[in-house]
Amino acid sequence: MSIPIKQYDVVIVGAGLAGCAAARELKRRGKNVVVLTKLHPLRSHSGAAQGGINAALSEEDSIELHMFDTVKGSDYLADQDAVELMCSKAPETIRWIERMGAVFSRTPEGKIAQRPFGGQSKPRACFAKDRTGLTLLQTIYEQAHRDGVEFLDEWYVADIIYKNGVVNGVCAYEIKSSEPAIFQAKAVMFATGGYARAFKINSNAHANTGDGLSIVARHGLPLRDMEFVQFHPTGLAGTGILMSEAARGEGGKLLNSKGERFMKKYAPEKMELAPRDLVSRSITKEILEGRGVGPNKDAVYLDLTHLGEEKIMERLPELRDLALTFLGRDMIKEPILIAATAHYSMGGIPTDIHGRVMKDAENKLPGFYAAGECACVSVHGANRLGANSVLEALFYGRHTGNIIADDLEKEGLSFIDINESVADRMREEMETLRTNNGTERVSELRAELQESMTNNAGVFRTQETLERQREKLKELKERFKKVRIDDKSKVYNTDLQEAIEFGHMLDYSTFIVEGAIARKESRGAHFREDFPNRDDENFLKHTLAFMDEEGNIKLEYTDVTLGIFEPQERKY
Ligand code: FUM
Repeated sequence: MSIPIKQYDVVIVGAGLAGCAAARELKRRGKNVVVLTKLHPLRSHSGAAQGGINAALSEEDSIELHMFDTVKGSDYLADQDAVELMCSKAPETIRWIERMGAVFSRTPEGKIAQRPFGGQSKPRACFAKDRTGLTLLQTIYEQAHRDGVEFLDEWYVADIIYKNGVVNGVCAYEIKSSEPAIFQAKAVMFATGGYARAFKINSNAHANTGDGLSIVARHGLPLRDMEFVQFHPTGLAGTGILMSEAARGEGGKLLNSKGERFMKKYAPEKMELAPRDLVSRSITKEILEGRGVGPNKDAVYLDLTHLGEEKIMERLPELRDLALTFLGRDMIKEPILIAATAHYSMGGIPTDIHGRVMKDAENKLPGFYAAGECACVSVHGANRLGANSVLEALFYGRHTGNIIADDLEKEGLSFIDINESVADRMREEMETLRTNNGTERVSELRAELQESMTNNAGVFRTQETLERQREKLKELKERFKKVRIDDKSKVYNTDLQEAIEFGHMLDYSTFIVEGAIARKESRGAHFREDFPNRDDENFLKHTLAFMDEEGNIKLEYTDVTLGIFEPQERKY
């Protein structure tokens, strides 16, 4: 049966904040744009962002301070030109989304309220209670709809069309029917989200399987800084569900089994509001050294009881609800149990500061763009500050949408000749997985991947654990060839989708591990116990990693764009 070929100016993959913001801009500039998403847009993971979105709005704050905090937080790996662009546009981004209808929490004087977040010099996170991401996502999705953006929900994008050195569309299938289609486009933007599902304890939606990254990597295109995975300090014990940094921003205290407020040992000035990498390591260290709490002694307390019911219900109602539902504890009455949880991907598809994807260290890939968590611009470097991700997604989504519109108008991106053979790779993958009669199960392989990534490539890493993980990944890749799925049907075949997603998880995990083995230093979220210091002489560099057809990774290093902030020791 032949495959339908549909044509658009722009195809956007992913309908979180970045995807919706870009789509709206493109539509308003008269472009024929479609958004493909494997979920309903309002189930995108942007909606799970709780605590806030940064912007230097107050008189005591400044763009320069926001930039400095971001660069210092990044352990000096962020590109300072990109940081400057994002931070300087943050106030305007807040005004833009507010005028579209986003309702922010307010001060008694009626200004947008801002709360302190980790690693920030000033209260800078604008918020809507503890449902900031959802509030913003509902607003931008509604507005994109109003402007007539076409959304195709429950379409799974399995490949890009990469031919003659340009990207010219995607191959996808409808999840409802497994029917394939080719979406040809003059420009493609990926906004496919992050990859923390590779870890056992994580705060991510089930959808965050890093599909976009592996799709790109399988064409021999690079991924940048993949070894930098953020562990958020406060995931609910056992499940890893996010307990927003807002809890500490509002005054939450971290306590060990001796009742000690242990952050005074690790970050005497900032205490619980030190940046995430530092707080996560401190919590994990307390647990590893036997000062954990809970039945398995694998958590510490987050105490909010002193805030009182009124403040908790006004500022943190969602967190209270989550802790009640998933832990059975009422944070108004007793401390809750938390531990570090894999949360965010600093690495991703390399782009220039305008969202144009790079095909190597110097050259851009015509027709291809990325924004949001799947992209590595890089504004977060080795460690992202809380409330900068929502900003990045919204600002860079909007900005990249406009850049695409400019490029369409100026450079005349156009359609190239294709036929349905561009979908061969997708069809082959689907057919192989559907008909394979092996003995391995995706659910078991995935559990082994997540457990081993957490143990070997988690908060603390060494050469030995990382090499163990390298071997484990090789084993899992071999076993994945013998996978069998039970559902052979074409209707809502989630068995098949999970198998495809697992293949992506295996591929990008290899990038994480290989990047981490080669980076013999500690920087931001990448902490090597055998190389505990930062080494600017050898590693003030971005990792650019390429995968060959056999799955081997080749690493290159590129310069960090420095600026007004000279690298210095990070103290909090
Ligand atoms: O803690 C939080 O509310 C998460 C925010 C973020 O990751 O930016």
